[in-house]
Amino acid sequence: MAYRYRSDLTRDDVTPKDVYLNRRQIMAGAGAMMGAGLLTGEARAQDAWDLTPTAYEDATSYNNFYEFGTDKGDPARNARMMTTEPWSVVIDGMVDRPGTYSFEDVVAGMTIEERIYRLRCVERWSMVIPWNGFELADLLDRVGVQSGARYVAFETLARPEEMPGLRVPIIEWPYREGLRLDEAMHPLTIMATGMYGEPLPNQNGAPIRLVVPWKYGYKSIKSIVRITLTDEQPPTAWNTYSAREYGFYSNVNPNRAHPRWSQEFERRVGGGLFARNIPTLMFNGYEEEVAALYEGMDLIVNH
Ligand code: MTE
Repeated sequence: MAYRYRSDLTRDDVTPKDVYLNRRQIMAGAGAMMGAGLLTGEARAQDAWDLTPTAYEDATSYNNFYEFGTDKGDPARNARMMTTEPWSVVIDGMVDRPGTYSFEDVVAGMTIEERIYRLRCVERWSMVIPWNGFELADLLDRVGVQSGARYVAFETLARPEEMPGLRVPIIEWPYREGLRLDEAMHPLTIMATGMYGEPLPNQNGAPIRLVVPWKYGYKSIKSIVRITLTDEQPPTAWNTYSAREYGFYSNVNPNRAHPRWSQEFERRVGGGLFARNIPTLMFNGYEEEVAALYEGMDLIVNH
């Protein structure tokens, strides 16, 4: 199988659902090929794994959503408590049409596409997710970004009666994230409303979340209730927690170690023994598409 860095895959490219469900058998087959010497080494392991969607059951049971607890299984257990209907998103700051938009208003008129993206967590695990969503740029164009706006800030719902994790002050709640405006307008940046052709499960950030595939997963903020256009770099949850460990940019970069661990390799969730030491790709494999955004910047300093 050749490397595939295409990120603008269409519905025609999407693996049918029964194939995700049979992924374990497929990988058992790849393992057998390795045993027979037909596939060898880490690069071959990545060949076999690159853009093979993670099993739905893994993507929906191994999660980070600290509002529901810090164990990987907590979000799947606890997020069912979250009420997602009705849902509204406040869009404010430097926009021509600020307001409180219902979820239905937000998605009305948007083209929902399927995008198969790698998801690389700063903790070193990774998945491949077929998202359903629309380009954030389309939403920003609709509300009218004013000249002078330079950043987009996002906030997650913070409803203590439905989110037991909010009792634990690990980070400052609500969970907050932010992007530079050009990053937000990049065609790879999407607002996801579904995955694997189904509406987003609560544990994955229902009913609407951000997905920025070239950045560590924590930038892809879940269950968004507010989007604010601003002229100043907004404070973000993990950067406020520890700026040394988690930068504002958070671009996936195998050459910049986290202070407590290397980022050279990653583990593909559900991959078993053969997917433990997959080389991490610069910008998570989206270098060709996004490197120009950071021309002339020192990506170790601006991590
Ligand atoms: N968004 C909120 N609101 N709370 C979180 O704890 N975790 C982040 C990100 N978005 C998180 C969040 C992290 S660390 C990762 S890796 C991804 O969500 C995980 O997304 P997934 O569970 O859908 O794979």
